[in-house]
Amino acid sequence: MSIWHVTGGRPLRGSVRVQGSKNAVLPVIAASLLCPNETELINCPHLSDVEAAADILRHLGCRAARRDDTLTIDTTAPDRCDIPRELMHKMRSSVIFLGPMLARFGQAQVSVPGGCELGKRPIDLHLHALRLLGAEIREEEDAIVCRAAHLRGAEIPLALPSVGATENAMIAACAAEGTTVIYNAAREPEIGTLQEYLCALGAQVSGAGSPVICITGFSPRRQAGLRVPPDRIAAATWLCCAVCAGGEIELTGAAPEHLSPVLAALGKMGCAVAAGHDVIHIASYGRPGSPGAVVTRPYPGFPTDAAPLLMAAGLRSRGSAVFIENIFESRFRHAEEMTKLGADISLRGPLAMVNGVERLTGAGLTSPDLRGGAALVAAALGAEGETRINDPGHILRGYEDLDVRLRSLGADVWFE
Ligand code: EPZ
Repeated sequence: MSIWHVTGGRPLRGSVRVQGSKNAVLPVIAASLLCPNETELINCPHLSDVEAAADILRHLGCRAARRDDTLTIDTTAPDRCDIPRELMHKMRSSVIFLGPMLARFGQAQVSVPGGCELGKRPIDLHLHALRLLGAEIREEEDAIVCRAAHLRGAEIPLALPSVGATENAMIAACAAEGTTVIYNAAREPEIGTLQEYLCALGAQVSGAGSPVICITGFSPRRQAGLRVPPDRIAAATWLCCAVCAGGEIELTGAAPEHLSPVLAALGKMGCAVAAGHDVIHIASYGRPGSPGAVVTRPYPGFPTDAAPLLMAAGLRSRGSAVFIENIFESRFRHAEEMTKLGADISLRGPLAMVNGVERLTGAGLTSPDLRGGAALVAAALGAEGETRINDPGHILRGYEDLDVRLRSLGADVWFE
């Protein structure tokens, strides 16, 4: 358990580089299992989830070595096809190893994945997609046993545009004989990154960013490289920290085109937001306006992961806001913690009503999950006095050097 100490009341000033995307690099690390190859991932973020994914590769007999911001993977000689509970349980995206293991080994045994407790988070769509490709899957108490002597191209209609299920299907389909078409595919930018990597590995994948993705063949290559794109949720986090604390910051190495709904909401709050090719500048002083209604949706809608951060930015707004969550049943676990700071939030199922208050006061909080924990840090930047946040490791799963970077912008933040 870490304890984060945040003393609010200090405006942020300066420039911060956006880290590489956690949710883009994790499926790519899993996909590197598809064929014997050496992959070099540049701008790979230093995160415990990335280390957990690398540990799974090492457990399977592969090599993964980091030098600065580059992770070099060698999947030439894996020697097992099972992932134990302690490795699966560290994060949700461990389930994305299923597709590549089936594709490479023709079999896989895993337990159910872990990750943020945002609701039930079943994996039925993942398993349905793999069964359509020809996998035989047995679900036991805490194990999922899969066999796939021969994967065959299929039409895969997804009941929901699930990011993970889309990724699992894309990867497994590379080893299937014939063409696979995924309908109602997720359109998140991370799908585009995975398509870029699979094509670098020698696969023929097209359609990422649209609801229809086609995988039509695979001529494996022994070398592949990828530059990890910026993390759009980390960028949203920095922007909301600047609103909570007040001040003026610049994000470099950003991809503003992936953040349109978040930038629009911040503009509606009266923040001065300017975006260039790979920079975003924001200035916000005093109490912002309200973002109004914030409705989370699959991409290109407002991202569910940014909702806790925007809620933090609006806690001291001059108006009221309503957040409507359409993705996860338990996205608002941070709200009760925010009320301990003096925030005025009432929950009604998928709705959270927030009435802006004039001041927040530091308190003792507990981080409920990755984005909720980061939102508590952001909110504490705008609270008077010290806030202590007990965090069982959620924050470091998704944020690289959050404390160091906040201090470089003038914040009083440290953790023990
Ligand atoms: C990915 O999770 C992200 N994680 C999440 O970010 C993000 O919130 C989510 O996509 C939505 O954008 C990674 O990429 C590692 P989903 P994922 O499958 O793939 C339901 C963060 O903070 N569903 O798109 O698990 C599910 O319960 C994390 O970085 C099924 O019903 O999300 C949810 O209600 C949190 N059956 C909805 O679909 C399934 O088989 C969307 O989930 C799969 C999902």
